[in-house]
Amino acid sequence: MGINIAIDGPAGAGKSTIAKKVAKELSFIYVDTGAMYRAMALYLLEKNIQGDEAIATACHDADISIRYENGEQQVILNGENVTAFLRREEVGNMASVSSANPEVRAHLLKLQRTLAKENDVVMDGRDIGTTILPDAEVKIFLTASPETRANRRYLELTEKGETCDMNEILKTIIERDVRDMNRAVSPLKQAEDAVLVDSSDMGIDEVVEKILSVYREKVTR
Ligand code: DC
Repeated sequence: MGINIAIDGPAGAGKSTIAKKVAKELSFIYVDTGAMYRAMALYLLEKNIQGDEAIATACHDADISIRYENGEQQVILNGENVTAFLRREEVGNMASVSSANPEVRAHLLKLQRTLAKENDVVMDGRDIGTTILPDAEVKIFLTASPETRANRRYLELTEKGETCDMNEILKTIIERDVRDMNRAVSPLKQAEDAVLVDSSDMGIDEVVEKILSVYREKVTR
């Protein structure tokens, strides 16, 4: 059995940056479950599959797995490494829609639980502490205000040289929060036993240290 650290929270709270650093500090693997939902979304977009029933049927044809290259998670979709295509806005927005589908969630749940059983993991997502790994040793709910998250996203995009509109980004973030928090299956919510960390006014290293201190408190090997 692996030791499991679950980090949940809304889009843009800094989960992946933080989770990667925590994993590195502890020599755990980092599992980005959002990337799995994004790979599923990419598959659906590529095949132009829409509507609940069609998505429920089609998701079984998407074989998704992960492997690590130089410590970085790579997502394999039907034999092809699709990691480079997953961060596009369009893919993220489709992932937010298709991840509400119960069949899609059930399809990815198995892969996530197997990884956590076989390895020491830091796993981030929306329902890791509540549904996927209810017995995780450490559960963190990492959040930040919508304005802070929009600002971070804006900086990330402009650094890449992309032109973007701040109000548009904020609107998309709020819309995605509403969808992620209000879906019927595994909505984004803080697990009762999760530690709430609001990163709005915290630096990355401060958040990492906070999570490591929760880990040290709860886990003694
Ligand atoms: O964290 P992210 O932006 O890569 O996630 C993309 C979408 O996938 C997000 O809108 C919600 C969904 N998701 C989910 O429903 N459950 C998870 N465990 C991870 C992501």
